[in-house]
Amino acid sequence: MERRTSWIQLVTIGLVAGGIATAVAIAVPWLPTSASKQADRIDFTYWFATVICLGIFAVVAAILVYSMINFRAKPGDWSDGPPVHGNTTIEIIWTVIPAVLVTAISIASAIVLAQNGNAGSNPLVVRVLGEQFSWTFTYQNGKTSPILRLPINRPVRLEITAADVIHSFWVPNFGQKQDAVPGQVNDLTITPTRTGTYPVICTELCGRGHSTMRSTSIVMTEAAFRTWYAGTAQRPQPGGGSGTAGGVIFTHNGCGACHTLTAVPGATGKVGPNLDTLTPSAQAAGQKLIPFIRQSIVDPNAYIAKGYQPGVMPGTFGTTIPHQQLSVLVAFIAAHTK
Ligand code: CUA
Repeated sequence: MERRTSWIQLVTIGLVAGGIATAVAIAVPWLPTSASKQADRIDFTYWFATVICLGIFAVVAAILVYSMINFRAKPGDWSDGPPVHGNTTIEIIWTVIPAVLVTAISIASAIVLAQNGNAGSNPLVVRVLGEQFSWTFTYQNGKTSPILRLPINRPVRLEITAADVIHSFWVPNFGQKQDAVPGQVNDLTITPTRTGTYPVICTELCGRGHSTMRSTSIVMTEAAFRTWYAGTAQRPQPGGGSGTAGGVIFTHNGCGACHTLTAVPGATGKVGPNLDTLTPSAQAAGQKLIPFIRQSIVDPNAYIAKGYQPGVMPGTFGTTIPHQQLSVLVAFIAAHTK
């Protein structure tokens, strides 16, 4: 039985299927807000591939649904379908077109990868050290920080390595990831385009504390960055810190990412014990409050509060927080806990 192809029906199905898929692609915020030139380019390649996929989906859905509607066997029809050998022309078309599209995607990706790797002639260089389970950022003037501060609109070359096992550096808003491998330095270029605070995430399973191996990246105006870069004092940052010295040190070291302390705005972390009520823990550990707080910062595994696990909090704060700041921090927490 010959049947004329209803092109109107076929095209309509394709447009409806393609329209629904396009709406899903556009309406859902699949990608994090871009905060770098590199992320803009990566977003472009995503959309480049997505548009191609939407077209292919529309064609496949149209033919599939059209066939289901028009070529169904009638009830009670157990006869064989007509023998069809194949169609060389169609087979060539459905091989050549995808080959061209996949080649186009790989060319676009290769161009983006090359552009993203180019830090220009005068990048800001920051050394990144990953270790179980913290990040340390060292600048060219020797300044180190547990938080990655970057000026806006200047290419930055991150020189990434690890102290113990393989980690992976990732700021979703900056786009590209880069592995942190012991004994090896991997570069990653970032050109921030948006001031703000963005999460730094370890994205390679690296041990029990992997999920807590997080820090913060702050993209600052050029002037604010220059002030911070040249200064020796810990300065309060926009969007965090209580304004007191202890609160600033608390914020600066990222304590609030894992701990709740009501005295510090934004310190609402739930990974580690709540710092609002430390006296009972000090008693359980058989210590006075102040030495208990100091020990818990410097040697976090010495006493583990009920319901928590050892090995999660980085054991490096004793060396990364200067002595005098540590005393201020301990006194600050003691003054604001019950
Ligand atoms: Cu470091 Cu996961």
